[in-house]
Amino acid sequence: MNRRTALKQVAQAVTVGVTAGHLGWPRSIRGGGAATAAGIEHTGVTVLLNEPPIGTISPAIYSQFAEHIGGVIYDGIWVGRDSKIANVDGIRKDLIEHVRRLGRVVVRWPGGCFADRYHWRDGIGPREKRPRRFGRWREETEPNHFGTHEFIRFCRLCDVEPYFAANVGAGTVEEFQQWVEYCNAPAGRTTLADERVANGDREPFGIRYWGVGNESWGCGGKFTPEDYCTEYRKFTEWVPGYGVPLYLIAAGPNGNDVDWTRRFFKKWTDYARAPLHGWSPHYYAGTTGHALKFSRDQWYEMLHKANQMEKLIADQWAALGEFDPEHKVKLIIDEWGNWHPEGTEINPRHLFEQMGSLRDALVAALTLDTFNRHAEKVDMANVAQLVNNLHSLFLADGDRFVATPNFHVFEMYRPHHGAKSIRMNVQAPDIAFQAAGREQRIFRVAGSASLSGKNLTVTLVHSHAAEPAEVALQLRGGMAEGVRKTVLTHTALSAHNTFERPGEVMPKTSATDLRGPTLRCLLEPASVTRLDIRLA
Ligand code: AHR
Repeated sequence: MNRRTALKQVAQAVTVGVTAGHLGWPRSIRGGGAATAAGIEHTGVTVLLNEPPIGTISPAIYSQFAEHIGGVIYDGIWVGRDSKIANVDGIRKDLIEHVRRLGRVVVRWPGGCFADRYHWRDGIGPREKRPRRFGRWREETEPNHFGTHEFIRFCRLCDVEPYFAANVGAGTVEEFQQWVEYCNAPAGRTTLADERVANGDREPFGIRYWGVGNESWGCGGKFTPEDYCTEYRKFTEWVPGYGVPLYLIAAGPNGNDVDWTRRFFKKWTDYARAPLHGWSPHYYAGTTGHALKFSRDQWYEMLHKANQMEKLIADQWAALGEFDPEHKVKLIIDEWGNWHPEGTEINPRHLFEQMGSLRDALVAALTLDTFNRHAEKVDMANVAQLVNNLHSLFLADGDRFVATPNFHVFEMYRPHHGAKSIRMNVQAPDIAFQAAGREQRIFRVAGSASLSGKNLTVTLVHSHAAEPAEVALQLRGGMAEGVRKTVLTHTALSAHNTFERPGEVMPKTSATDLRGPTLRCLLEPASVTRLDIRLA
């Protein structure tokens, strides 16, 4: 059946009131928990407004990551004050305007692997006098024109919160603690605070989030978990906040390596629990095929890989609970995203740059829905990376700038920020696909729901590559008095936005006449849908 015929058939089914259950969808998942079939009617999606919320969705779940690598900082963010490219204080104007549309999120800087060889003093003082160093990547020269003050300026212009990743691999405890003091101590109180003032910023930066190293199992020092824990304790044993409540983040495992987590936390309990607020596993879903060339099976396999975030969160949370039963330490997934092979860079200097397609947008939406469903566990998540890199929201080269389909997903999901995550059951059939020489299966529909006052937001990802689906969305304990629908999709699975065609993949919003306790709506193939539901 081609896509158009399928859409027509489902549209007819909608008018005669055929529900998803009648279509014989056997599979059931419960948003916010494990798969279960108990007590669920086969009516598609049920939003459990009558149950207590899961937790409040931190806007920081929608955060970003910006590293000194390839074209992220130089070209992506920093163009320089004298540039012909429109800028504010050297920072790309188009970027500022778009990042502001993401809401009050956090941006992690300066790495990544770069962080564990970055000496912050290289990036302060008169720009022309700053030392030039070999960068961490490809040994490109790092001019240090973008340092602490420039990053803070960027954050203030974009109205986002900074998150600094400190150097454990090649740095010292003293260097870290002095960076905190330089940033946060009030003017006139210490020599370092006065140095900050002399460099142009009287007001303290008030940095809350501090990462103590990055990927300490790898580029951050190749530590054992026990040795890293010893370093972590030394770095964090005495760090004054200067009035700022610090949020200290330890580098977590590579993917879902539960053993690494257990070994770190076993040592941590031996050390009378050094101050620790966030634990940061990194999960890259990797690739299947190529950024823009992939088969139907590879489409599903990619989405399936993204869905492994659910298990990572559950497993890591359970491991944390063995040592921290009150769950004071939360998850910070401060690097996630797809990682495709090279070949779609817009500029060969932009290491790891990849063209973001509709497929990447669905991965972003699946992942953000997963975070929403675990709002009580995940305090922050940072997609890698903001611009000109992996899974980016933006591409920029010279004076050209474009928002990728990923950006549109992040903007679409903004109503979830700060709202209460609501449990949701989804009944949908599995989709079978071939990967690694065997048949595998993926949920056809997944999503999340949140409530803010009378506004219910439901986001749904429909992974079927070719056929639409009709969903009967039941509001248990609520009635809709008005619904608007926003959809991001395209007829080509590899569709993407380019400098020449920036609007190729864009969300479209429409009014609907949906009302009442059950809303029947069509999900287009390969789509992300947001329903803005005004409750009576
Ligand atoms: O995001 C690119 C790199 O991937 C980061 O520097 C590192 O932390 C990770 O391995």
